[in-house]
Amino acid sequence: MDGLLCWCRSGFEPDLAAELTARAAEAGIPGYAQTERNSGYVVFHAEDGVTLNAALPWESLIFARQKLPVIAELRDLPPSDRITPMIEVLKTHGTRFGDLWVEHPDSEAGKPLAGLARSFGNALRPALRKAGLLTQREDMDLPRLHVAFVDGDHAFLAQTDPADSAPWPLGIPRLKMHADAPSRSALKLEEALLVLLSAHECASLMKEDMRAADLGAAPGGWSWVLVRQGLRVIAIDNGPMRPELLDGGRVEHLREDGFRWHPTTPLDWMVCDMVEQPIRVADRMAEWFAQGWCRHAIFNLKLPMKKRWQETERCLSLFAAEAGRPLTFRAKQLYHDREEITVFASVRRLHE
Ligand SMILES: C[S@@+](CC[C@H](N)C(=O)[O-])C[C@H]1O[C@@H](n2cnc3c(N)ncnc32)[C@H](O)[C@@H]1O
Repeated sequence: MDGLLCWCRSGFEPDLAAELTARAAEAGIPGYAQTERNSGYVVFHAEDGVTLNAALPWESLIFARQKLPVIAELRDLPPSDRITPMIEVLKTHGTRFGDLWVEHPDSEAGKPLAGLARSFGNALRPALRKAGLLTQREDMDLPRLHVAFVDGDHAFLAQTDPADSAPWPLGIPRLKMHADAPSRSALKLEEALLVLLSAHECASLMKEDMRAADLGAAPGGWSWVLVRQGLRVIAIDNGPMRPELLDGGRVEHLREDGFRWHPTTPLDWMVCDMVEQPIRVADRMAEWFAQGWCRHAIFNLKLPMKKRWQETERCLSLFAAEAGRPLTFRAKQLYHDREEITVFASVRRLHE
């Protein structure tokens, strides 16, 4: 079978399907998306799976938490022995894998499969090693094998390149809420830094004493994350900020309108979590770059209920066109994003 299985947030399947369809068409690859509402995944079928996979790098996909190039789809797996049919397929496939992940969709129907995935992984691992299909120790230079259960008797076998896939099972980075964080929103910015930037990029773009603006900052989760990265923050919001955050001396709070305020001297960073129409936010973010008010930004676009892919494309095209200069930009619907996506943009040329 040639195709891609992608995990997504439950409810966003039509948006991921629209994205995959548009991106494959742009690359001149015929194919079609298959999905069910609230299933937490989309399968995109194409005749030439290798070209499709190369044309859609994981980093470039917005609504996909993970991208799994499919080896085979197995239906009617017998509950008494699901291992033998998988080993048979994998022997024919002939690849030696450096790791095994057994996964399931992050959906109402998928969550009960977590126990099966765990125990099945423990049983499959030694069987794969015995058949010479899996290394004794994890080897990131080799492809990773994924067994994706979408039902107890229905699974996909897939193969990822660790360099072109999310490094977390289910595509979900597990982050813990810090006791001192002023809001749960802090997790969104922490995840954005982890997913949208490599550790090296993060270290080189966020340095001690850099200056940042936080638009729509209250009660202060994002400002708190920036301060922990060593930055000094101007927090813009009419609402109250957590007093402890202001006591530290690194955050200045201005009760201003985030759509009007701008710095008098250029800043290193701007972040924005204002709840507003996404096109209005995209327009304002572009103006920050066009005017040179910041060099790097992370902002959220709150999406409407319908046609979210179309709205995403419209906002990102407007942003790119109006920024007035070439930018590196990346966008993802993060695990901690609900009806929204997160965008990173920079004047620095980073790999894309
Ligand atoms: C989702 S909350 C931000 C949470 C924040 N990022 C955190 O981590 O705690 C959205 C904030 O945007 C602010 N906001 C909405 N419109 C704004 C505007 N025009 N100017 C400034 N702040 C605005 C709201 O007051 C609200 O505090």
